[in-house]
Amino acid sequence: MNSTKAIITSVGHYVPPDVYDNHYFEEFLDTNDQWIRERTGIIERRFAKDGATSDLAVPAIKMCLDRRGLAPEDIDCIIVATVTPDMFFPSTACVLQEKIGAKNAWGFDLSGACSGYLFALATGAQFIESGTHKNVLVVGADKMSSIIDFEDRNTCILFGDGGGAVLLEPSEEEGYGLLDFDLHIDGAGEPYLHMRGGGSLNPPTQESVANKLHYVFQDGKAVFKEAVIGMADTTERIMKSNNLAPEDVRWLVPHQANLRIIKATADRIELPMENVMVNIDKYGNTTAATLPICLSEWWENGNIAKGDNLILATFGAGYTWGSGWLKWAY
Ligand code: COA
Repeated sequence: MNSTKAIITSVGHYVPPDVYDNHYFEEFLDTNDQWIRERTGIIERRFAKDGATSDLAVPAIKMCLDRRGLAPEDIDCIIVATVTPDMFFPSTACVLQEKIGAKNAWGFDLSGACSGYLFALATGAQFIESGTHKNVLVVGADKMSSIIDFEDRNTCILFGDGGGAVLLEPSEEEGYGLLDFDLHIDGAGEPYLHMRGGGSLNPPTQESVANKLHYVFQDGKAVFKEAVIGMADTTERIMKSNNLAPEDVRWLVPHQANLRIIKATADRIELPMENVMVNIDKYGNTTAATLPICLSEWWENGNIAKGDNLILATFGAGYTWGSGWLKWAY
């Protein structure tokens, strides 16, 4: 049996410099700081004043490669999880390949909404484990400010812009890397969280713009209920099937959509909050970028060590959801 595993050998992240706290929204919406904090855990987020999603990814990739001492030419494949690609085509992977000069890489975009990063990580790991690739860059980046309706208080307060990247490489050292994952989709979730405009179903017209079809729509209550169940179920499942007890888990790395969803997941697996990565207070929901930003920040602060068990958990539009078990390797 092939014993090669995909390990993370470097991490990087980027958030734009402009900070928008909850009071920013009070100026033009019927909302307030207390409501946003109590219902979501968000205190502030970053919005990029200009540029595209690839501009959030480039600095994250550079940080990731610099930390590993690799050149862009060393990359074999770039996988980009995003719901805000620079354009429909070419892919943001192509845009990034050109921008960073990764001459030897192929790549593609992957659409899994807030679970996109986990789906991309699992996909990248297959290329490593099959032995066909040596350096796979897995990027998660979203410029959510480009698709949120700043007149809709239900959604615009939730999101932020950001990017993250990790490098996957092969390892023969037993028991390290992405050891298991549990991934799901359920298309019955589409009515509750979607952006229906711009694709072949609703090509852009004056009417589609007037009807705000090019913005995120979310029925928050419906999604909340499903997210609490879906994220907790998958997290519990991956721990049980790998005989992991709460005390075995150094970090739960949850998608940062709502602090109450994160707490419900931690409660279900009986994990204290000091073992849970939380930065939703600073960045809000950056969609495909939440997981790699967490990994990069926690690593940067010296809070992840070789041998740590990390459980990644996500839920998002689709619905999409899943979990992964990662044994940190460096
Ligand atoms: N400020 C003040 N009031 C607001 C508000 C805001 N920004 N947004 C909504 N409200 C209002 C609602 O209109 C509602 O008023 P009503 O009862 O008069 O209709 C009231 O607050 C309560 O809304 P409710 O939907 O019950 O709030 P909630 O506790 O469910 O929190 C979310 C709303 C969006 C924070 C929450 O539902 C959520 O996080 N959903 C899931 C997000 C998610 O996981 N997405 C998946 C991945 S992207």
